[in-house]
Amino acid sequence: MQNIYLLLMAGHETTINLITSTVHALLENSEKLATVLDGSHSWSKVIVESLSCASPVRYGLMRYATQTEDRDGIDVLETKIIPGEAVIVGHYASGRDPEIHEHSERLDLNRCSHQHLAFGYGAHCCLGAALGELEAEVVVGQLFARFPDVILATTDAIPTVGSILLYGLQRLPASLRAGVQTGVKEVAIRA
Ligand code: HEM
Repeated sequence: MQNIYLLLMAGHETTINLITSTVHALLENSEKLATVLDGSHSWSKVIVESLSCASPVRYGLMRYATQTEDRDGIDVLETKIIPGEAVIVGHYASGRDPEIHEHSERLDLNRCSHQHLAFGYGAHCCLGAALGELEAEVVVGQLFARFPDVILATTDAIPTVGSILLYGLQRLPASLRAGVQTGVKEVAIRA
């Protein structure tokens, strides 16, 4: 039972955050959205790019360094990590490294390198990475296929989830039909 709960928790909010961040970025950049709708870029490329610049997991869980090649520790980017020390990985940082990516904070569909740590790395790498990407690809693709005129229903900055662990929008107000003011639908809602 606990394993099922873990899968639900690990896979639910992360995927919602990926979907809403991606939709938001595309609604704010209609010229980029147009290049996807005309087939110049695939939905899978959009999702990988979104994972790079808006990683749904900000920081991972705290872990402790148990062993290093050298008892005095190892140097990681000029920081020495010694056995027993607590380590927290900033998952969002790799995809936003300005030394690797130009304009790393923006959705850039022409980005060549998609080096990111949105799903972690190594022994604890995300179990549902392929599923999460696929879900986001299908949902975002279907949203724009069914509602090609969807627009943002606010010009205000949308607050992000107040969490050290997760990155995502609290809400994403969108009007599914441009010009129709009869109802603002929430594309995704965070409870
Ligand atoms: C876009 C969606 C997702 C993102 C960004 C994401 C991200 C992550 C990250 C950063 C970790 C931690 C890696 C580490 O500790 O080093 C993780 C672990 C995990 N994820 Fe995901 N995840 C996503 C979707 C899913 C889905 C859909 C499932 C399951 C259905 C899932 C199941 C898990 C599990 C079970 C772990 C723990 C793996 C372990 O500790 O061995 N995740 N995920």
